[in-house]
Amino acid sequence: MALTRIHHIGIAVRDADKTAEVWRDTFGLETALDTELESQGVRGVIFPLDNCEIELLQPTSEDTGISKYLENNGEGFHHICFESTDVAGDLIAAKEAGIQMIDEEPRVGLTGMIGFLHPRGNHGVLIEYAQPPDDAPQHSGPTSGPGPHALHHMTVAVNEVAPVTEEWTERYGLVGREPFRAEALGLEGQFLDIGPTAIELVSPLPGSGGPLPRKLDTSGEGMFILALTVRDAEASVAHLRGEGWTVTDANAGGFISPKHTYGARLRLSEA
Ligand code: CO
Repeated sequence: MALTRIHHIGIAVRDADKTAEVWRDTFGLETALDTELESQGVRGVIFPLDNCEIELLQPTSEDTGISKYLENNGEGFHHICFESTDVAGDLIAAKEAGIQMIDEEPRVGLTGMIGFLHPRGNHGVLIEYAQPPDDAPQHSGPTSGPGPHALHHMTVAVNEVAPVTEEWTERYGLVGREPFRAEALGLEGQFLDIGPTAIELVSPLPGSGGPLPRKLDTSGEGMFILALTVRDAEASVAHLRGEGWTVTDANAGGFISPKHTYGARLRLSEA
């Protein structure tokens, strides 16, 4: 197992120029790459954070994975990419572990050599392994301002936390923290660390309402909320509200309505 961190979060979008307005203009991130992979009919736009990247994926032709994804699911989170120091070896290991694969061998992607594992065997999460080239430029997020500068964690909605923890710590080398129960939020969960960031698994407590059970009912298990680190949550919330955005639960950092972010459900967290 040679997975070291979450390399990027992939987001499927219809129009990367429109969505870039959020990440570039409102959040102040820089565009590190804007390129088309013609062979795959996809345009990728990358916005670096200190410890991770945001990858917008826009289809440039019909009948590609991304255009079908948009047809079926609409805009929003598409995949989690783990950085690997040995992508070929990790793909072989995943196949030998019985995981349903999309790619059994590495191929060229936006991030170097990459390969995908099927979401069907991964609680609705499409997982990418990527091995960037040795001379890949090191980017970072904005050094000041109200926008996010790092990935805090990625929240994944699951029906039951414990079995997924068991599977993913074993399968991906994630390190589980203590499970928690948040009665007020109607959920239980567990953080699974990998490198500088983490995946948070959450499942609803029986009888609870709200966006989490609604997500599980309508689209099943999968990527749910991206938590981004800001320097001063109060200032960030004020900035976004100044832009006319709806931000709720400001005392918990702030949850941003996905209508402002082309389907990506975001929250802000202080380090
Ligand atoms: Co990717």
